[in-house]
Amino acid sequence: METTLTIAKDAPRLSRSPLRFALYFYLKSRWTLAAMFVFEAAQAACTILLPYAIKEIIDAVTLANRTGADIFVTAQDALILFALLNLGIVLFSRASGAMLVLTGPKLRREIRRTLFSYIQHHSHNYFISHFAGSLAARIAEVAMSSMLALWTVAFDFYPLIIKSAVALILLSAASGELALALSLWLGVYIYVSYLLARRCRVYAQDFAEARSLVTGKVVDSVTNLMNAKMFARRQFEEEYLTDYLDHEVDQALRTYWYMEKLRWFQYGAAMVLMVSMVGYALRIWAGGGLTVGEFTMVAGLAIMLIEAARGLSRTFLDFFEHVGNIGDGVSVFVQPHEIVDRPDAAELEVSHGGIEFADVVFAYREGLPVFEHLSVAIEPRQHVGLVGFSGSGKSTFANLILRLFECNSGSIAIDGQDILDVTQDSLRRNISMIPQDPQLFHRSLMENIRYGRLDASDDEVVDAARKAHAHDFILQTEQGYESLVGERGVKLSGGQRQRIAIARAILKDAPILILDEATSSLDSVTEKEIQQGLVHLMQGRTVVVVAHRLSTIAHMDRILVFDQGRIVEDGSHEALLGRDGHYARLWNMQAGGFLPETDQP
Ligand SMILES: Nc1ncnc2c1ncn2[C@@H]1O[C@H](COP(=O)(O)OP(=O)(O)O)[C@@H](O)[C@H]1O
Ligand SMILES: [Mg+2]
Repeated sequence: METTLTIAKDAPRLSRSPLRFALYFYLKSRWTLAAMFVFEAAQAACTILLPYAIKEIIDAVTLANRTGADIFVTAQDALILFALLNLGIVLFSRASGAMLVLTGPKLRREIRRTLFSYIQHHSHNYFISHFAGSLAARIAEVAMSSMLALWTVAFDFYPLIIKSAVALILLSAASGELALALSLWLGVYIYVSYLLARRCRVYAQDFAEARSLVTGKVVDSVTNLMNAKMFARRQFEEEYLTDYLDHEVDQALRTYWYMEKLRWFQYGAAMVLMVSMVGYALRIWAGGGLTVGEFTMVAGLAIMLIEAARGLSRTFLDFFEHVGNIGDGVSVFVQPHEIVDRPDAAELEVSHGGIEFADVVFAYREGLPVFEHLSVAIEPRQHVGLVGFSGSGKSTFANLILRLFECNSGSIAIDGQDILDVTQDSLRRNISMIPQDPQLFHRSLMENIRYGRLDASDDEVVDAARKAHAHDFILQTEQGYESLVGERGVKLSGGQRQRIAIARAILKDAPILILDEATSSLDSVTEKEIQQGLVHLMQGRTVVVVAHRLSTIAHMDRILVFDQGRIVEDGSHEALLGRDGHYARLWNMQAGGFLPETDQP
């Protein structure tokens, strides 16, 4: 049963069943894949017909010997057939190989591209609940497994079916009893292989888990080698790791021994088939029911089928694993998009930049509301500072404006347009957000700043960097604007990253600006510099600043004081100081310009 998901309008429609998911992509290359299956069938048929051609040759030679005719004349047709079959194997296998080359890489590209496109629509919440590294690895894994699952079918199961069918037809022409015996053997062999593989899958999964556990532990230990050194715990770390390695060995032994059992079955079954077919054929031959050629064919067919069926359990096992991987990936990726545009969503038109919260109720988790009936209006072009202890809801307030989360009830409107009625893209195009810890792409500084407006010229980027007071430090980096900044920007200091983010926002030139503690991790000299960059950025815009340092917002038009999700005070710095309430208390508590985390001593 296909469950209907809430999916963003322009997101790809993907199924949650692993097979249908994969089929969606296979069908995109249906013609090349169909050709591949045709060529594979032809190749398999040519291969399994070889014993038949040899039978024809032997029978012709026997006849020639008996009649004294020229061997090459009597055996001519059979020899041509033999040559053609060999040629067919070459041509069909290479044709199938060409189809494989044509589809494989494209199939993987399609799956990766589509999955990425699908998960781009997931909510902010989705990404803070999943590890980025494991999502990325999983995308690659799903793509790889979708391809390999198809290959196991195309190159293992399918040829075996074709070969068995042709072999049965050939045998039944020679002897009905032999054909019956072979089909019995095939039935039992395939069924038992399947059962054994299913049992083994459980072990193989445990083994895979043990392996990835060890990898995780090694990564953690290596990452924390500094800790091990500082605490002189090298011995401890080695022993700690050894426990996990031993566990992996146990799992490996269990799986490998089981696979050995599997092979006992396979080799035993092969022996039974070989000996009984040949023995049986010999008896029929002795009774005059078979020709020499037919006897040779029976032996040849048995050898070839054993060859094709030898790895069947392993193939089943691989197939289960691939399908399992696809299933795991699909269950992680193909989930409903939590926040989607309405079908009739309009583009947000910001004329003045007024923001209004009306009776907003919001909870991250049910029963733990952050806001209960919060109402507040921010006037167009007003500069508003938010203050309050950590956890009082300031960041949540900003996140709700950006619709990173949706209100449980009530509404947020910008210039009279409910943010639920407009597209998320148009909403976020009109808001520049500078978070406390801006993250950068591992791309050049030029590209990182230009992210604010993709068509900005180099001069415009440099100009924005100057305004954000980033130009000077950028020039001091090794390659200036072409410098790469490391994963998430780790090669820059927090303050430098923030200035890059400000430059980016200057280029973006959105009418609404939100800064979430954007200057809290800066020393006062850097902060002063950034403040100058910000003055320019804030002009003529609606600005919401969450501040840790009261000095940064003292000069704002208006200050909202948050306390446990409520706005307890609202007014200018002077007015609030005069009221001698919460704000005045905060103002007096601050040390070196910083607010304490809580009001507990
Ligand atoms: N993603 C989240 N999931 C669950 N709870 C959250 C999440 N983000 C914040 N919270 C909780 O919501 C409350 C308000 O947090 P926040 O808005 O970040 O406060 P502030 O920015 O004022 O320090 C806190 O109790 C916090 O623990
Ligand atoms: Mg916060």
